[in-house]
Amino acid sequence: MEGKQNQKGSIMTKDRDGDPAIEASGLTKIYGEKRALDGLDLTVPAGTVYGVLGPNGAGKTTSVKVLATLLRPDGGQAKVFGHDVVREADAVRARVSLTGQYASVDDDLTGTENLILLCRLLGHGKAAAKARTEQLLNAFGLTEAAGRQVKNYSGGMRRRLDIAASIVNTPDLLFLDEPTTGLDPRSRNQVWDIVRAVVKRGTTVLLTTQYLDEADQLASRIAVVDHGKVIAEGTPGQLKASIGVGAIHLRLRHSNQRTDAQNVLARFLEQPTLSEHDEVLVSARIPGVEGDAGMAEWASKALHELSLRDIVVDEFSLGQPSLDEVFLALTDRPATPENAAKEGANR
Ligand SMILES: Nc1ncnc2c1ncn2[C@@H]1O[C@H](COP(=O)(O)OP(=O)(O)O)[C@@H](O)[C@H]1O
Ligand SMILES: [Mg+2]
Repeated sequence: MEGKQNQKGSIMTKDRDGDPAIEASGLTKIYGEKRALDGLDLTVPAGTVYGVLGPNGAGKTTSVKVLATLLRPDGGQAKVFGHDVVREADAVRARVSLTGQYASVDDDLTGTENLILLCRLLGHGKAAAKARTEQLLNAFGLTEAAGRQVKNYSGGMRRRLDIAASIVNTPDLLFLDEPTTGLDPRSRNQVWDIVRAVVKRGTTVLLTTQYLDEADQLASRIAVVDHGKVIAEGTPGQLKASIGVGAIHLRLRHSNQRTDAQNVLARFLEQPTLSEHDEVLVSARIPGVEGDAGMAEWASKALHELSLRDIVVDEFSLGQPSLDEVFLALTDRPATPENAAKEGANR
């Protein structure tokens, strides 16, 4: 029955209203011994930013490649706007665009030349190509750099041009594979603004990231991926709530007391603590609120421990754990230790 339908192009390529942008179940991809994807399930509602969050090697790029039809899965299935990524790859390709490691821009060409070339390749006439190029360069803050060869661009400029190149024709689904990895905070913010603008115009965005705050900032839903599997899924709020515990966030008066404060908290709460970007901030999960002690009681005891050691706390709040804390709780290891270090190094 299904086979018969698939022979009919009209039925095969017709979009069904209300289809999720992506529906994947049990995707596997095996490289030798390595299960890059190990039964990955994903449902991405249309019209939103969906975050796929995971450390290096989690399987993010492999998922994107499979969903964008660049790679055949070894098992499971996936549909993009109702079209099977293997059997209806052309219909999928017509709807998606991606940027990341597959950057299509040429280093030897200028920004303008790259975009004009792409516009022409995608069938725009000369005048339309010029107009679209100018519009994109302007929107992405690249007008001044337009005449320079891309090899002389900064990382942030290059990333912006990559994204511009991927939306020359507005795709229904845009894959952004770690669009801000390695960018300084200012360029990151520019990319975030671009993502928000793209989604506002109706494009669904699947964004992979190693940055928990990025997923929190941009995504309506997040899948946490580890070892080729989704280990948690939900809205940022649900993810945090699913951990079932709260967190205490502290602002210290003296940054040189932070290490001491972390040690005290880690010992008392029996939880690893996290360093925030700001060096006077510390946060820690509060262990399961069991027995007689509520969260406030845990917190007040923790504060007492700090005061016994003359650690000055200017401000504290109780709330949901951050996404970093979620990852720590889910996997028993920090999500991206190297990112914390990188953040610290950025001015
Ligand atoms: N072409 C390949 N050949 C062999 N192993 C691969 C290949 N591509 C990815 N892998 C492995 O599969 C796992 C997932 O990789 P990847 O999807 O690139 O992760 P991520 O993008 O989350 O960093 C990693 O262990 C990686 O080393
Ligand atoms: Mg990757």
